[in-house]
Formats: sequence, structure tokens, C-alpha cells
Amino acid sequence: MKRQGLQFDEEGRLRHFITLDGLDRGTLTEILDSAENFATVGARQVKKVPLLRGKTIANLFFEPSTRTRTTFELAAKRLSADVLNLNISTSSASKGESLLDMLRNLEAMNCDMFVVRHNTSGAAHFIAEHVAPHISVINAGDGWHAHPTQAMLDMFTIRRHKGDFTALRVAIVGDIKHSRVARSEIQALSILGVPEIRVIAPQTLLPPEAERMGVHVYHSIEKGIRDVDVIVMLRLQRERMEGALLPSEDEYFARFGLTEAKLALARPDAIVMHPGPINRGVEIDSAVADGPRSVILEQVSNGLAVRMAIMAKVLGRGPQSEEAA
Ligand code: CP
Repeated sequence: MKRQGLQFDEEGRLRHFITLDGLDRGTLTEILDSAENFATVGARQVKKVPLLRGKTIANLFFEPSTRTRTTFELAAKRLSADVLNLNISTSSASKGESLLDMLRNLEAMNCDMFVVRHNTSGAAHFIAEHVAPHISVINAGDGWHAHPTQAMLDMFTIRRHKGDFTALRVAIVGDIKHSRVARSEIQALSILGVPEIRVIAPQTLLPPEAERMGVHVYHSIEKGIRDVDVIVMLRLQRERMEGALLPSEDEYFARFGLTEAKLALARPDAIVMHPGPINRGVEIDSAVADGPRSVILEQVSNGLAVRMAIMAKVLGRGPQSEEAA
């Protein structure tokens, strides 16, 4: 059956990458397999393939970013695309130009793809609704809503360490309420068949819809991480909190921070993940963040290969169709 909806073109092919909602296991697995091929590019002397030669990709980051912006830029360059990094604070947006006028001008420069980060949920969807038919939009994080490429690079990292998704216990710990990563991660884990997804947080940092997300809720990290295979730690999103949701960071660390003693309750081969930026001594102890079970920097490296795979897919190019692997 032909897939329909904003993310798909008239032929049912993936045109935008806004959310994992509505994608199937086959599509996610195809992206992960393709990323395995692209991962080899980074190990070459010449770290480039010609797949997106002649394409122009604009990075539109309306919100701060270190990892996502730089890995998207590097991924696009490794695919031989031309890359525009728009500095929003010095662009004409600061002189009152509307978002749609900005897009029209970038379209006039024959851009092929917009990579969008915005602090408003739904921003990437809005842009995808309004761009010219030849342009693809990738969501690089919108408000509390979604961060689908982060979820995919996390799935890639989990698959590399654990192989099969269908026998895993995964715990996501921290500020679930304000986390677009948590929402996309839960979707990705569910689509890929993870049977037990746990979220661990104080009641004030859980979204009202937590019970409907198909997860097991814990308010004690000691109970929640017992025997899990994967632990995903999340930052407290202070910039998105309204009012006092926590007594203090010290108390939060004492109750929910991941220390070596708490990590010992998980499976002996459990891996520790974090999308970054990490706040040492708030949600994670340095001994864990820098310890042998941490794969936090691997996640960043994997982000490159996964973002190459996603950009190539939505622009209709795969590693099979031209030289890549
Ligand atoms: N994980 C993540 O989105 O990090 P940045 O905010 O640095 O892009």
C-alpha cells in the first residue's frame, strides 16, 4: 500500500524526516543498515562520497546546538553536498523578516534540503507544509515534540552493542516531560520491537500522557534500572521548565543521578547513553559518564553515519545506488 501523509511524496517515498510517528520497522531498519555502510566512509583517507554532489543543504538552527548542527554539516559535506549554515541571530530574521519569507529566499537559491531546529513544537512540520515541492525538510529537534535523528543514532548505537532489539530492557531516566529525545526514543524503541521500555522520573517531570506511551513508569531509579540492558540519561531541561518542579539539583542528583553504585543494579553489560549536553553532578556522575560502560561519545560519532543515511534517503539516494560503501 502506498504510504500517505506529509512525510511522503506522491509515490509514497520518504520525502521529509519530521517524526518517527507513522514509520515502520522496515524503514527504520533500512536507515540503520544504510548507516552501517556510511560509517565506513569516516575511516577512509578521503572521507567523502559523491552521492549528493550538486545538492545544496541549508542548516537552519533557531536554537543552540553543538552535536546536531556540526554532525549535520559534516555529514552533508561527506556526501559532497554544498552546505549553508545560516546564522539566525545575524540573518534578516533579526530585522523582522518572516520565516516564510526567509524560506522563499533560500528556495530562490535552489536549496534542496532544510535541516531545521526550532524551540517551537511543530516548526519543522510547518516548514515542510510550506516549502516548494522539490525541497526536503529534516527535523533536527522541535520544542518538546521530536528529535527523530537523535533517536535513530541512538538505535544505531544500541544495535551495534546489543544486536537484537526484541529481547531488551531499556530505561530512560530524567526529565521525560520536556524531552523531545524521550518522545522520539520511545517511538523508535517501540517500532523496533523492544518489549520493555521503562521511564524513571519524579512525578513532576513526567508528561501527563506517560501512561499511554506504552512504557513502565518508575519513580525510583534503584527499582527502575534493575536488570536493564540500556540506560538513557536525560538532562534537566531548565529552559523549558515553568515554576519549581524540583527541590534542588543536589537533591535531584541524590535521588535520580546515575552513580557507579546505582549502575551496578543494571545488567553487568548494560550500556550508558546520553544525547548531550551532559550536566555532570546533576543527572550523571563523571565516573559513569567517562567510565567503561559509557557510549556517549560513540553516539556522537554514530550521528554522522546515521545523518548521512537519512539525508541520502530523503534525497532519493542510497549507498546501493552509487558508490558509498
Ligand atoms: N543531542 C543534541 O541534540 O545535542 P545538541 O543540542 O548539541 O545538538
